[in-house]
Amino acid sequence: MFEVLHKDLMGRIGRLETPHGVVETPTIMPVVNPNLVLIRPDELERFGAEIIITNAYIIHKKEELREKALEGGVHELLGWKKPLMTDSGSYQLYEYGDVEVSNREIVEFQLGIGSDVIVPLDIPTPPDAQRERAESDLAETLRRLEEAKRISRGREGGGGEVRGARPLLAGPIQGSTFLDLRERCAAAVSEMGFDVYPIGGLVPLLEDYRYRELVEIIIAVKQRLPADAPVHLFGVGHPIFFSLAVALGCDLFDSAAYALYAKDDRYLTSDGTYFLEDLHYLPCSCPVCSKYDVRYLKECDREERARLLAEHNLYVTFAEIRAVKQAIRENRLWELLERRCRAHPLLLSGLKKVLEHAELLEKYDVSTKRSFFYLGETSARRPEVLKYAKKLDRFEVSGNTLVAALDTTLEDACKALKLDLQAFDHVFLVKPPFGPYPLELQETYPIGQSEVPTPMDYEGLTTALENVLKLLEMSKGAEFVFVCGEPWKEHPLIQKIKRRAKCIFV
Ligand code: GUN
Ligand code: ZN
Repeated sequence: MFEVLHKDLMGRIGRLETPHGVVETPTIMPVVNPNLVLIRPDELERFGAEIIITNAYIIHKKEELREKALEGGVHELLGWKKPLMTDSGSYQLYEYGDVEVSNREIVEFQLGIGSDVIVPLDIPTPPDAQRERAESDLAETLRRLEEAKRISRGREGGGGEVRGARPLLAGPIQGSTFLDLRERCAAAVSEMGFDVYPIGGLVPLLEDYRYRELVEIIIAVKQRLPADAPVHLFGVGHPIFFSLAVALGCDLFDSAAYALYAKDDRYLTSDGTYFLEDLHYLPCSCPVCSKYDVRYLKECDREERARLLAEHNLYVTFAEIRAVKQAIRENRLWELLERRCRAHPLLLSGLKKVLEHAELLEKYDVSTKRSFFYLGETSARRPEVLKYAKKLDRFEVSGNTLVAALDTTLEDACKALKLDLQAFDHVFLVKPPFGPYPLELQETYPIGQSEVPTPMDYEGLTTALENVLKLLEMSKGAEFVFVCGEPWKEHPLIQKIKRRAKCIFV
């Protein structure tokens, strides 16, 4: 039901098949609240929506909506013909502590109204919960997931009928901020086997900019899920986080933010949120921002303002999804990520957390890319750099070996230093952040395709010198001459290199 078409890092462009058609992922599902519609579902397509999400609990609770949905289906109720996911009321459970429906009832109801993706009544445990509570919530969530599976697979008779083709069944993963519980839950849920794997209980972390913990949770869960399983981040709808989440292998998002923020006079951008009152200009060229100016938005009546802001918010949200997909196709997702994560220091912390798991990303990442742009110290440890360091093991040499980190050509440097190139059995050049490379590799990825700044920053030099040192230390049978100029000379690793190589500074 899910097919991966293109990959970059752990991210992918995929096709998700549902009874009402195919969805291209990554994508975001706008939340439609049947009680309070700001933008009608039939208009959402214009912004780029391929699938929407609504709340089965809200429909179930209101007799008029419930009867209509059971009679004509949820698609007819909302006026939307394409794929549609329903949530179960778990979020209301989280917000209000209780809901007036059982897991069985809401699962059967979702089957009865013809939803394309149904969600059991999982229990979102808040971050930083007591461990006992997280464990008992989790046990109950797993019990409900089992029950939902039995009901939806028709192995258990029950009141409800299924409208249309069998929907996809989502298996939400909980566990609060306990990574071992998240892992255990992900393992148990994938063992049971679901069609979509949402990660739940994240909204409070997102609201508090706790991106490091979000990254840790996503990575813990992803490692226990099948690689080709679609992953949804429940309640994640801010475009600032898409590139990071997609890079970690998330495929589906949902957003009430476009509407909730609009009602609150908040204006989304891919690098943060503005209060309308703080805007002097509209930094966007969507149809809303092209047609109106900031004064008009501030002065028009409340209802029109909410509508226009919601439209703008949707435009930028889908534009960011397209930017992420384009980056995947070009294998430049890391570079998009590096730029987006400069929008807030805590996002940068999230990116640094990802770098702690560069080994994992490297396993998934494609082996060659068209380009590599070094964009700052977080580029010094990107997965490709790690992969390159591993490749160094193949370069063990013996005999007279020149390793040169130069600003000029090799020939010019040798002439200036009166070095006879012919006297060397092996010659390596050094390109930061990668380190030494044999001349034959100068056209290959990543050496040939990398664009790096001059002067290189400290982190880039450090990685390169670590790799020089690695070559020196593994090549026991070689005599080394290391040539380097500014700004390499002052680097503390030079002291270690001096112990193993004759150093010439130019
Ligand atoms: N919406 C936001 N968070 C959650 C969650 O954890 N579970 C469900 N079912 N819906 C959500
Ligand atoms: Zn706009």
